[in-house]
Amino acid sequence: MADFKRSVVYQIYPKSFCDSNGDGVGDLRGVTSRLDYIRDLGADYIWLTPFFKSPQRDNGYDVADYCSVEPMFGTMADAEELLREAEKRGIGLMLDMVFNHTSTAHEWFQRAMAGEKKYQDYYIFREGAPDAPPTNWQSKFGGSAWEYVPKLKKWYLHLFDVSQADLNWDNPAVREELKNVIRFWQHKGVRAFRFDVVNLISKPAVFADDPTGDGRRCYTDGPHVHEYLQELARDTGLCENVTVGEMSSTSLAHCIRYTKPENKELSMTFSFHHLKIDYKNGDKWALQAPDLAQLRDLFATWQEGMEAGGGWNALFWCNHDQPRVVSRLGDDEKYWKESAKMLALCIHLMRGTPYVYQGEELGMTNAYFEDIGQYRDVESLNYYRILQEQGLTEADIMARLMARSRDNSRTPMQWNAEKNAGFTSGTPWIDVPTRKSEANAEAEKQDEASILSFYKRLIRLRKERDVIAEGDIRFICDVPGIIAYERTLGNEKIAVYCNFTGESIAVPANGQRCLMDSYEDVPMMKDGRLTLRPYEGIAMAD
Ligand code: GLC
Repeated sequence: MADFKRSVVYQIYPKSFCDSNGDGVGDLRGVTSRLDYIRDLGADYIWLTPFFKSPQRDNGYDVADYCSVEPMFGTMADAEELLREAEKRGIGLMLDMVFNHTSTAHEWFQRAMAGEKKYQDYYIFREGAPDAPPTNWQSKFGGSAWEYVPKLKKWYLHLFDVSQADLNWDNPAVREELKNVIRFWQHKGVRAFRFDVVNLISKPAVFADDPTGDGRRCYTDGPHVHEYLQELARDTGLCENVTVGEMSSTSLAHCIRYTKPENKELSMTFSFHHLKIDYKNGDKWALQAPDLAQLRDLFATWQEGMEAGGGWNALFWCNHDQPRVVSRLGDDEKYWKESAKMLALCIHLMRGTPYVYQGEELGMTNAYFEDIGQYRDVESLNYYRILQEQGLTEADIMARLMARSRDNSRTPMQWNAEKNAGFTSGTPWIDVPTRKSEANAEAEKQDEASILSFYKRLIRLRKERDVIAEGDIRFICDVPGIIAYERTLGNEKIAVYCNFTGESIAVPANGQRCLMDSYEDVPMMKDGRLTLRPYEGIAMAD
């Protein structure tokens, strides 16, 4: 069985992980210095978000040179050392390939701006009047997705920030350039890749307005996306590597196609539908309580659907774009530990490859910033302005940012309870949250009942029991507030019951032996009924 099915990936946001030189910004040598921590956790791969040369408008997702290291993060020698040291510990590095767009500081874009036709064809330029963008599409970070360049009398497309210009994948020269980037890193020994918003790479043949939406239906999972991914994999031998595609607003049918082994595209996909259950009317910036029934239905659909179609999911709650899950779906005060552990159990025992985002294993919470001056993220700052223009009160805007800002997950990794959480000896580029200083690696390492120890046991369990990596999945027990499922492989069976509410709930249950309980306690089982305490998560074996 493919190794990625048994693996766990640990995601590092280098800027916020560990600062080795006291400049307040995390760096590659900082990551190297903490490799033993990741080995002890049991992770097999480290996904590093981009550390390539970049003006950092979007913290590295605006790449100016895919084959060099941003000086803020260190040198190429530091990257090579990290790779070697990780390999020594049996850990592979997964690099983040941002291939939908480059920074406008990239040489290709600069040459396009200087008038070179060859490089204009690397991007998506359209003629047009300065007051009439080619389509009504909206940027994912707010405002129009088109920017006018007066000296060229042309617009260019940017689905993200204005400094992130979309590449033209229909141009074979672009595809060749990007293959060379992969080869460059493979040659250095990299054997895993994440592809940023890769289902947006194939734009439609004809650019037209979206009559009802923001344009995403026009370019998501576009006409040649499968063909381009197959070509990329074929020409670079990516099928020998572990690959994951980040899929924005995708569908189950497409994710099956992206990940079915015989299609030779990707090992697995990230999809995000389960993280929109608290978006009111689908709007990230409008708050509502999480719709737990919808959450359960989405998991059931995607888990059972990917199994039926022969696809493979990446499993995750957290990443550098999402608020912290314990603050979002758990209770980060009264049931902090219980809920953080329940959430871990729920996601890790599903069918797919789990991803742990730095600090999640410690139960790190949202930032709870109270001042706009504390925010750093380009999307958050754009929306602060947009929501102001919409006439919202300051208090309302701040409440929305507190719940939704990407900076919630970008606060410094909490290594200890000392100043700056042990992240830096200087001034951190972003504040450490004032709540939950006990969520730190040093304290949790000593404590058998900590969230960290629970994650370690959970990761170990995956290696010990084939049913977790290989078993079938069926969702059971349709009780409001509960997510429960069974995994089966031959005679081996595991049942998982998770209470997503702050109330006790009794459910019909069977299973003889408790494998893990987020209360670190004996489950309350009697006469075929299991009473789940607030935010209790239990895994039972037959
Ligand atoms: C992905 C990244 C995000 C970035 C965006 C544009 O969604 O995860 O951080 O801003 O792509 O590259």
